[in-house]
Amino acid sequence: MLDERLPAVEPWISDGWWAGTRAALEAATGLHPAAYADDRYHRSERRRVFERAWVCVGLAAEVATPGRLVVRQVGSRSIIITIDGDGDLRAFFNACRHRGTELVDEDCTVAGTIRCPYHRWGYRLDGRLVATPFFEEVPRPGFDRADYGLVPVRVDTWGPLLFACLDEATPPLTTWLGDLPQRLAGYGLDRWRVRASQTVPIRANWKLISENYQEYYHLRWVHPELAKVSRVDDHYRFQGPGMYCGQTTTPVSDEDRDDWLALPAKADLDPSDACSGRFLAIFPNVLLSVLPSHALVMRLDPSAPGHTSETCTFLVPEDGPQLDGGLGAEADDPAFTATRTFWFEVNGQDIDIVERGQRGLTAGAVPPGPLAPRFEEPLHRFHNMLADCMTLDRMADLTVPAGDPPGTVDRLGGGDNPVPPAIDRLVTGQ
Ligand code: FES
Ligand SMILES: [Fe+2]
Repeated sequence: MLDERLPAVEPWISDGWWAGTRAALEAATGLHPAAYADDRYHRSERRRVFERAWVCVGLAAEVATPGRLVVRQVGSRSIIITIDGDGDLRAFFNACRHRGTELVDEDCTVAGTIRCPYHRWGYRLDGRLVATPFFEEVPRPGFDRADYGLVPVRVDTWGPLLFACLDEATPPLTTWLGDLPQRLAGYGLDRWRVRASQTVPIRANWKLISENYQEYYHLRWVHPELAKVSRVDDHYRFQGPGMYCGQTTTPVSDEDRDDWLALPAKADLDPSDACSGRFLAIFPNVLLSVLPSHALVMRLDPSAPGHTSETCTFLVPEDGPQLDGGLGAEADDPAFTATRTFWFEVNGQDIDIVERGQRGLTAGAVPPGPLAPRFEEPLHRFHNMLADCMTLDRMADLTVPAGDPPGTVDRLGGGDNPVPPAIDRLVTGQ
């Protein structure tokens, strides 16, 4: 249906298609239904967003073991991520330099050489070609193995997260993240430990999942239990410059139920971090919730307009209870189980509503509606980041969005945060 109404060219790479997004918040609308449901839009988005942005591809802990190879899909491309013999993080396109064969088809551990299964060319973990069986029995003039190393891909980490970027022109990850590393520095997240991980298939577009995470407008109706610990009136902005949308619940409350707060909190947090929940949607595909006692990473991998894999990983502070844990391991202490159960209840409610959203956007496909200025400014910010990536010819020209302009806080949240984050106290002099 949508296909028939859309012109043959890619209208979404022109600014005009984004008029409702480019409008000021008070006049802004949501995205065109094609952005959620159309195959051609999805292919453009894969190329212009996922193959050009810093995309979260997992956790730094996943490649921490020597010789570990992690295989990930980024847009339409497959990459291998590893740590080389010198301890440096590396990523490569997952294809042999002989005749292009896929090198690795799933995460695995090798002794130090990546071997192509076809003719056994071998590559060191830093990408150097070191083995070409029988190839030089008949000399080939000018052939030099040094010319045929694996093709590198940009890769970097921040905190517990692993990122890759397929475009050389995109600004570095530190620019992409803006003030986020400083904003979350007090938690020392790079030292937190993985406790459990699981992947859930969701029948909805990846943007619906992120948008739903970014707004608490739906809290009272979709999550009556969550609204008891993360009260609507305790939400504030948590937003500086950077390719992310952030909010905080301050304080998180344990008056009605405390299973969300059952785990022991990290020691020595500052007063704001110690009483808050931080909720960050890092563009494009990772949602990071940080509480005093645990964090939840939700990584979104789109496979089709209406299908997304969501990988949920729990982290606990390094000074938390020492259980066996590990990637994918079940953790069985009651406090952790209560926390995880609570989150999965909340997440199940979110999945139901975003799948319903997907059905309406696909089968109803009505024109986009107005965004609520009180609650949906993060969506406006997110939609504008998306529009930038979709319309820019060169990612070198990307402007990372600024933080809140002065005087907008009342409109965007519940007024002044009673225990503002340290970084905002520095800015406002509180
Ligand atoms: S294609 Fe890899 S060794 Fe031939
Ligand atoms: Fe929700």
